[in-house]
Amino acid sequence: MAFHWYKELVSTNDEAKQLAKEGAPHGTMVGTDFQTAGRGRSGKSWQCQAGEGLMCSVILRPEWDTRYWGWIALSTGLVLAELLERDCLRPKIKYPNDILVNGKKIAGILSEANSDYVVVGIGMNLNMASVPRVESAIQPTSFYLETDCKLEAQSYAATVQRGLMDVLASPTPLLIRREIEKRLAWYGEEVSLINRTEKVEGIISGLGEYGQLLLEVQGKEEEVFDAHEIRAVKPLLD
Ligand code: BTN
Repeated sequence: MAFHWYKELVSTNDEAKQLAKEGAPHGTMVGTDFQTAGRGRSGKSWQCQAGEGLMCSVILRPEWDTRYWGWIALSTGLVLAELLERDCLRPKIKYPNDILVNGKKIAGILSEANSDYVVVGIGMNLNMASVPRVESAIQPTSFYLETDCKLEAQSYAATVQRGLMDVLASPTPLLIRREIEKRLAWYGEEVSLINRTEKVEGIISGLGEYGQLLLEVQGKEEEVFDAHEIRAVKPLLD
């Protein structure tokens, strides 16, 4: 499987998209020690010092019908969650793109698609001994803060790449739906979120055929395709 590692890049997603345009195959991994302009979701930046985090992107050309490509970020979340479980953590997938450990964000996923490929970018906090507070209900954490152990980004990227290839080899994402649902943050609990532009409150009841979030709102099932600012209505006290 193709694996490219660089000392420095502007953004692994940008580099992966360039390689994808040039025909790089399914599964190609692009990673770096440091990004000069790493990107997060919603136009935010993603900053991380060299040696402190995983910054990588994978070019995917899944055989799944494009209608099912909403599952790709969720499948990536599943791979990351299963890896963290191997280290005895209890991660949650915060729909659709974040991984939480003990209620704090340890990783984020930025997936960018066109009709031929999807580039899935992964940013994971690995070795930070402290993380700055952010203006959000959800604070960051790192693997080191949660476990007292450090990880090496390049070898972790290779493990993620193998995991992703295994999960995407599933003939349909519906076979892994249950595995993702089991790890969904606030599954069966009441949340509030912004769906496109509208604020909604309801109970998370699962994932629909195309990876949309299913929310029970006043006894009726609603589908959420674009969730922002999802949070528990009654947060647990620490
Ligand atoms: C988010 O939580 O907002 C998603 C963060 C994604 C960051 C990663 S780091 C590697 C890849 N390259 C980028 O420019 N962004 C993603």
